[in-house]
Amino acid sequence: MSRIAYVNGRYLPHSAAAVHIEDRGFQFADAVYEVCEIRDGALVDPTLHFERLERSLRELAIAVPTSRSAMLVVMRRVAALNRVHDGSLYIQVSRGQARRDHVFPSPAVPPTVVMTAKPVARAKGEALAEQGIKVITVPENRWSRVDIKSVSLLPNCLAKQAAKEAGAREAWFVDANGCVTEGGSTNAWIVTRDGVLVTRPAEYGILRGITRTVTLKVAAKLGLKVEERAFSVEEAKHAREAFVTAATTLVMPVVAVDDAPIGNGAPGTTALALRHAFHDSTEMVPVHTAARHLWPRSHAG
Ligand code: PDD
Repeated sequence: MSRIAYVNGRYLPHSAAAVHIEDRGFQFADAVYEVCEIRDGALVDPTLHFERLERSLRELAIAVPTSRSAMLVVMRRVAALNRVHDGSLYIQVSRGQARRDHVFPSPAVPPTVVMTAKPVARAKGEALAEQGIKVITVPENRWSRVDIKSVSLLPNCLAKQAAKEAGAREAWFVDANGCVTEGGSTNAWIVTRDGVLVTRPAEYGILRGITRTVTLKVAAKLGLKVEERAFSVEEAKHAREAFVTAATTLVMPVVAVDDAPIGNGAPGTTALALRHAFHDSTEMVPVHTAARHLWPRSHAG
């Protein structure tokens, strides 16, 4: 079955799906994105993703391309056409296509909207969580507006590649004060020896992860104490537990930072408890409605 992408109003096989060479997303990384989990045939927390997408667009003065309800129709259709039961949905919105010029096109052009969906084996994520992941640390070298979910991810790609080459799964960016900001594609957390959850405030310097927001809610439900403050690499190395959060990893235990084992070197009980309780606190919007015939089984159109 060929994968189907949505590009500016059309559902196309990936081989035929394309944006213009002068799209500003391609030319300048002048675009924002979202990654939404798909679980048990449902989109997870679409409302929170819409809120963040609209905020990112607003911060960059890119027009909101369409209503949330119209966007949701496309998201469900892309998930359905690709038969994704568990996996993720990717949305990218760029400022649009215009002759190359750094300043914004005037008059404005319509934003480019692309969506793709891919299945991911849930068992793999669960197996990884039972094992835990290693992280490395790298100097923070990104721009100061990482609160905007822009596609300008070169430092993140380099950091994650360095992690891979070091036998780790994630890289934590470390600021000039020796404090962890966040991961290449995840938010960073520790659990102190007193059992307090610590994660950096999301006002600036990190992306306000949707998984982070929901994890804070789950932690409150579980009666856990939380402090939103910066933590240093040294503090992390002496923590009882560490973990990362993202739509793609969910709550993922960290068992080593720069080869220093965290706690007893095995996934922590707090991280695993948060992971297991996570989806009791999420909004789930089924991909398929009762009127299943509305969702073509295998064609682009
Ligand atoms: N990344 N921080 C960064 C830099 C991220 O790229 C991400 C997500 C997060 C976690 O956000 P959320 O909980 O909303 O997924 C934090 C996505 C998954 C990606 O780039 O693929």
